[in-house]
Amino acid sequence: MKSIVDITDLNVDELQALIDTALDIIAHPEKYAHACEGKKLATLFFEPSTRTRMSFEAAMYELGGHVISMTDPATSSVSKGETVGDTVQVVSNYADIIAQRHPKDGAAYAAIRKARIPVINAGDGMHAHPTQTLADLLTIYREKGRFNGLTVGMCGDLKYGRTVHSLVGALSRYSDIRFVFISPEELKMPAYVTDTLDRQNLPYEVTTSLESAIGSLDILYMTRIQKERFDSPAEYERLKNSYILDMAKLSLARPDCSVLHPLPRVNEIAVEVDDDPRACYFKQVLNGKYMRMALILKLLDEAARDPKKTLLHSPEAAKGLRCRNPRCICSIETGIEHVFIEDDRQPGHFRCAYCEAETE
Ligand code: CP
Repeated sequence: MKSIVDITDLNVDELQALIDTALDIIAHPEKYAHACEGKKLATLFFEPSTRTRMSFEAAMYELGGHVISMTDPATSSVSKGETVGDTVQVVSNYADIIAQRHPKDGAAYAAIRKARIPVINAGDGMHAHPTQTLADLLTIYREKGRFNGLTVGMCGDLKYGRTVHSLVGALSRYSDIRFVFISPEELKMPAYVTDTLDRQNLPYEVTTSLESAIGSLDILYMTRIQKERFDSPAEYERLKNSYILDMAKLSLARPDCSVLHPLPRVNEIAVEVDDDPRACYFKQVLNGKYMRMALILKLLDEAARDPKKTLLHSPEAAKGLRCRNPRCICSIETGIEHVFIEDDRQPGHFRCAYCEAETE
């Protein structure tokens, strides 16, 4: 039985199999209409969502299954102080699979350690958002027909943006990929992402100028400056309009450049861009539903064939260390065992098993 914390929990062959299943669902939806009959998905959303929660729920209904939901922690026992671990242990009695979103880094791994059914990370703090990456990958595949050899620009909030962290993790496994990171200095890609690229000798460019970078891109992945991640409202106000893609800027892009955005947008893409054939962000939403259908099918099938729980990071090494990331679930909730894993690319270096922050 497998759960999904990050996109790297799926290897390249598994990603391609999910894409193939999604394409088959698009071509033959009737084949899948009863595939999850008698099964229940629990959506546990400790943080607001439109697309991710509703597309998971639509996905399960289109597979013939049922959905039970916690859409607002204020109306659940989370408001009384119940932990993530206790919540998922309880919900394991009611459902066959969980999709969980939580505002704290590492909350997905905290759930997986306690759940008795597969858990899908539907976004945990700044850490990861693997099913958004599945939507992104299917969109890129349908637009470009390949992943190899692409120049991918990511623009906006690259520091707090869990979608771009997961997308870099996914694309960096394909050949001849080049990244261009476009952000204000204050919101640049975290070192743990660029360090990984450095270790693999993968090329990337860092710039503050969308205008100078846009002409070289096959994919432009715009992101929102996320008000909810800032400690300082003044800092958010200063940075919020750093990048606005309008038709004037898009005219500098190649005719075959595809513009993606995980949504919601605030004003970083002008509405006038929506009608340009390069705008793919609403197609991306629909692709997300198909990939979530494919993922639910895969995880339920694996759970039926092998109900034994697989913890993703192995071996775990507690070593008496404590996570220093103040946004990590294990720094916030009581009763969570601090667990570290050795970095397989840097023996002797340890990362928090929940949020992947390095030890100092
Ligand atoms: N892209 C995305 O995660 O959107 P929601 O926050 O609406 O789920």
